[in-house]
Amino acid sequence: MALTPSSPDERRSVGFGLLGYGFMGRAHSNALRTIPYIFWPSTGCPELVGIAGRTESSVREAATRYGYASWSTDWRDLVSDERVDVFDNVGPDAEHVEPTLAAIGHGKHVVCEKPLASNAVDAFRLYDAAANAGVKNLVCFNYRFFPAVRLAWEMLQGGELGELHQARFRYSQEWRTDPATELPSPTGVLDIICSHAIDQARFLCGEIASVSAEITSIAPARTYRGAPAQADDTVSILARLDSGLVATIDASLVSPGRKNQLAWEINGSKGSIAWDLEHPNVLQVYRRDAGRTAGFAEVIVTEADHPLVAPWWPSAHVLGWEHAHINMLAHFASAVADGTPVEPYGATFLDGLRVAQVAEAARESAATGRRIEVEEVPAR
Ligand SMILES: NC(=O)c1ccc[n+]([C@@H]2O[C@H](COP(=O)([O-])OP(=O)(O)OC[C@H]3O[C@@H](n4cnc5c(N)ncnc54)[C@H](O)[C@@H]3O)[C@@H](O)[C@H]2O)c1
Repeated sequence: MALTPSSPDERRSVGFGLLGYGFMGRAHSNALRTIPYIFWPSTGCPELVGIAGRTESSVREAATRYGYASWSTDWRDLVSDERVDVFDNVGPDAEHVEPTLAAIGHGKHVVCEKPLASNAVDAFRLYDAAANAGVKNLVCFNYRFFPAVRLAWEMLQGGELGELHQARFRYSQEWRTDPATELPSPTGVLDIICSHAIDQARFLCGEIASVSAEITSIAPARTYRGAPAQADDTVSILARLDSGLVATIDASLVSPGRKNQLAWEINGSKGSIAWDLEHPNVLQVYRRDAGRTAGFAEVIVTEADHPLVAPWWPSAHVLGWEHAHINMLAHFASAVADGTPVEPYGATFLDGLRVAQVAEAARESAATGRRIEVEEVPAR
């Protein structure tokens, strides 16, 4: 008996065009290739239409390696291609604005890596353009898509912690600790990692009203490719939220031993929760009403009834860093195919704008020594 040919995949395809084939180009390509068979059945089946980057030999190789149907050394070829439904910008921070605006101009749905922009004016231009065009938009604050973080969000939405007393958010890495090193990127700690911590604070606890901040550098004169680079190595923010809650948000690229520690703790009248990216599947939960058995419990968030675990393996099989990117892009592909909202789970360009406004207020506070109100979102 001969083999029977398999049936074609009849789900709606969503054509992706990627700008960039570096670290994030790899992470997003991995996600786009994985989604069709892990998220089954689902609508919004990503199709790898094209990839663009600067260097011909590298972009050609990336297209073959990841399975893109086409490639170009000019991102304009991607944003104008009719097979592309989603323009996914995984280029460096400095390349987020112009190509993404051009894609919106061609009516494409847009994904942009964080930070959406390095200043609030550019972030507003992107938010405004996407809103006017009515296209779906996502900023890659991927940590929202860890199962433990989503469970924390659900607990907070349900009021399980009662009245919030205090919250602390921290993102620490070590790779800039040697002051003699030439930097691998021109941006500093606020854009590189503090943007994630600010988004986690807003996602879990609410909007930030004002900030007081200090920024330090261990070597202010460091360079990137021979040109002066943003020197900020640490930032410490004391934030007051619209709700009145006071939160600390800090980040450092000069913390020896801290490999990639995004961690937070939130305390309320009924209990506390804490999470640490270096132990990503564990949510620490303390409930005051547990009586004499009260104590921090390590809740391993791997049960298959969790919406971000369900598409993966049977209960109790751990997920890692790449799964959050895959969960995030699967959510976006479905939003495009089904016309469902990206928010509240996914970060939209409005969230990217709010993070840029908080970062800008932190910079102003550090420069002036004053507490700074975070700007309102300008009228459109
Ligand atoms: N969400 C996350 O977890 C996360 C992690 C790391 C980086 N990022 C963000 O992702 C983005 C990309 O970072 P990365 O680490 O992948 O960088 P990378 O340096 O590894 O890759 C950048 C890519 O952009 C291309 N590129 C550079 N300059 C260009 C130009 N002028 N025109 C067109 N293409 C150009 C490069 O060839 C490369 O393919 C950045 O915005 C960064 O902040 C996000």
